[in-house]
Amino acid sequence: MGYFRENVEKMTGYEPGFQPSETDIIKLNTNENPYPPSPKATEAIKNISPAELRRYPQPMADSFRETAGKILGVQPKNIICVNGGDELLNIAIRAFCDEKRAVAYPAPTYSLYPVLAQMANCPAVEIPFDKEFNLPAKLASSGAALTVVCNPNAPSGTFIPKEELSQLAEEIKGILLIDEAYVDFAEDNCLELVKKFDNVIILRTMSKGYSLAGLRFGFGIANEEIINGLMKLKDSYNVDAVAIAAATAAIQDQQYFKNNIQKIKIERKFMTERLTELGFEVPASQANFVLAKPSKARAIDIYEKLKDRNIYVRYWAYPDIKDKLRITVGTGEQNEKLIDALKEILAEG
Ligand SMILES: Cc1ncc(COP(=O)(O)O)c(C=O)c1O
Repeated sequence: MGYFRENVEKMTGYEPGFQPSETDIIKLNTNENPYPPSPKATEAIKNISPAELRRYPQPMADSFRETAGKILGVQPKNIICVNGGDELLNIAIRAFCDEKRAVAYPAPTYSLYPVLAQMANCPAVEIPFDKEFNLPAKLASSGAALTVVCNPNAPSGTFIPKEELSQLAEEIKGILLIDEAYVDFAEDNCLELVKKFDNVIILRTMSKGYSLAGLRFGFGIANEEIINGLMKLKDSYNVDAVAIAAATAAIQDQQYFKNNIQKIKIERKFMTERLTELGFEVPASQANFVLAKPSKARAIDIYEKLKDRNIYVRYWAYPDIKDKLRITVGTGEQNEKLIDALKEILAEG
């Protein structure tokens, strides 16, 4: 057509996981939390007044920043609220990268990163993980303006120790963005690095641990100067009044959150053990999903046969993961049904 910028003409765009409209299915393909959000979040949505809808929302979502700041032990000025964690990634790429300033990340990882690089027309330096998903040593010397490390990593679920990311922050010249979208399910996190380094940004989301993927609310944590710089690039009212109210109520309800996380960890253990018994290779996951490599059938065939049984998991035809399936941890009942279906499929041969 010729109307678009050249890089936009060339790009294919991000392909979100399948979002079926049917409800009588088992949906383990996009890492949503299988349990409902805190009733306090639902209540906050019900209590939104017409006046709040008539007015523009708080431009910086200050009520959330104050509440989250107290819970996380940081100042509100260290927090930027965004329309889902994806928006923070988008803002960061626009803030730090261009044709001459690259983004680097270990791969395989979240498939949105290269798409954002294409949008910004910046080089994307992909440094392969080894088989155990250890932090690649070469990442420190990539020279990128922005280094992104997803931790726990998607789609592997593996976790890189804080000490290693601390060393990386010290070694690189640019910004280190640690994508902690799944950290609520992990045993540790890298929040303290924000206090230690002026080049670290932490990404968090309310989509996973807080069961609010439909709400679109995430946030970034960094030193004040970085936050102020990022603020310049966000839309004026990037998070809406309903989202601010619900996200604030959800993060306030830490008891509900902790119980929910505990249930998922128990189910993750069940799923890992059962899959291993069925001959899958499953690296220890610290997220709400597992990456499972079958030994008795092809991943793509299992994926199709599960789909025929209305069970959706995630499959990518990329060279480094085409022999694996990423499976979200569901409720106990969903996970049992998945395992039963896999037993049947593997018995069919
Ligand atoms: C690794 C990773 N980072 C960030 C996000 C962004 O999540 P959201 O935009 O729902 O906050 C996701 C969503 O799936 C993700 O998998």
